[in-house]
Amino acid sequence: MRVLTLSGSPLKKGNTSQLITYLTKQMEKSDIQDLKLTSLSLSGEKISPCKACKKCMETGSCVVKDDFQSIAKKMLKSDLIIIGSPVFFHDVSGPVKNLIDRTYSLWHDRQLKGKKIIPVAVSAASGEDRTLETLRIWAQAHEMKIIRSVSGHGYKKGEVLKDEEARTAAKNALRELMGELQIEE
Ligand SMILES: Cc1cc2nc3c(=O)[nH]c(=O)nc-3n(C[C@H](O)[C@H](O)[C@H](O)COP(=O)(O)O)c2cc1C
Repeated sequence: MRVLTLSGSPLKKGNTSQLITYLTKQMEKSDIQDLKLTSLSLSGEKISPCKACKKCMETGSCVVKDDFQSIAKKMLKSDLIIIGSPVFFHDVSGPVKNLIDRTYSLWHDRQLKGKKIIPVAVSAASGEDRTLETLRIWAQAHEMKIIRSVSGHGYKKGEVLKDEEARTAAKNALRELMGELQIEE
């Protein structure tokens, strides 16, 4: 199974990426067949906002040339996308919003349809529900298969790993994924 993780925090090793890494480490310990992991931080990637030119309706690709094209290619190659965002004012971060809007170019002919997805959100205290809702609505629009959401709390780097509920949520998502893979066998 090809897994792509996307961490949407400006902090490469912040809580969002640490919670995602915790989840992928659990996956590596499990007996998932042919696990191929690609991890990407959106920090340092140039993803401009959607221009709303709607040219993608005719072509199925985006006219804005930046790092979106290579990220889209990675998304298209993956079976499971783990997308995580820090909670910024009860919603996704700017880079995550830019990325999800740019996938309009993949939406017209549902190029992401059927891909499995685990949405992840980390806040200091509150707002993860609304953030996960943004990610879930996006995934539903693309007709992706939502496995289970994961969220946690933390403020300073690494604090999220002290959150027992976050670790349990990651393990529950993995359990759900394993169940799903068994059904598919
Ligand atoms: C611009 C900004 C807005 C934030 N808004 C919220 C918020 O609405 N609710 C909250 O609980 N934490 C908020 N936080 C705190 C972050 O969600 C928290 O520090 C989280 O761990 C960040 O994840 P990261 O380390 O991956 O960047 C905000 C932080 C920043 C920088």
